[in-house]
Amino acid sequence: MPSVSNSTYLSVVEARNKVLSDYIIKCLNSYGLCVFDNFLGESKGTDILNEVQKLYNTGKLTSGQLVNTLSSKDEVRGDVITWVDGSEKGCSNIHSLISSIDAILLNCQNCLGHYKIKGRSKAMVAVYPANSTGFLRHVDNPSGDGRCVTCIYYLNKNWNSKTDGGLLRIFPEGNSRVANVEPKFDRILFFWSDRRNPHEVLPSFRERYAVTVWYFDSEERKRAVKRFKSSKSRDPKSEMVPLTMPMQ
Ligand code: OGA
Ligand code: MN
Repeated sequence: MPSVSNSTYLSVVEARNKVLSDYIIKCLNSYGLCVFDNFLGESKGTDILNEVQKLYNTGKLTSGQLVNTLSSKDEVRGDVITWVDGSEKGCSNIHSLISSIDAILLNCQNCLGHYKIKGRSKAMVAVYPANSTGFLRHVDNPSGDGRCVTCIYYLNKNWNSKTDGGLLRIFPEGNSRVANVEPKFDRILFFWSDRRNPHEVLPSFRERYAVTVWYFDSEERKRAVKRFKSSKSRDPKSEMVPLTMPMQ
């Protein structure tokens, strides 16, 4: 192993983050969405997958469907989820995933549309069990709750959407073409969270794993908080936490 000093290594990480951030800025501003593969590499991705599978296999995930009075034929989404900030026991790799994404978003600061990224949601760990319903067409933030960028990290090795299903299909506003995104292992996806990107998850026939983080715009967030004060809504999606410190 060649010896690489810590400071050299960190500057390589920073350089890579810069390349990645420039790519994300270009894609998001031009197309409203951005896909990037091999984000963390096989080994780190596998560590994260193991943590997600453990959360799932030990029963920590519960139905993502918020309105439980609906009958199953009205099911909107078939996933099971939990919210983590990474400090929980057994979530240290999810924590480093969140920090890596935060570092990228901080690099994009002031270059994504008119947004000023202020904070983010906790990470939503989601599993669609085999043969579950997908997630019907929806918009993540239709009503200005402050979320501006949706970021999804996928964890599915050897995924083949022809046999495994589970495609994310995005219908970019004003475009007759759809974007089909396979939920491939170590793939990261960013898209505007508002009405510009309605999307759906097609039913999957294999367990399908993903971790999602939503980033907030400070101005939209301020306006939303004023409105929320009068309501009792406490949806974890619209709760904001600060970004983790970028890597030193
Ligand atoms: C969501 C969602 C997409 C995916 O949770 O809001 O749209 O590909 N997920 O998992
Ligand atoms: Mn969504």
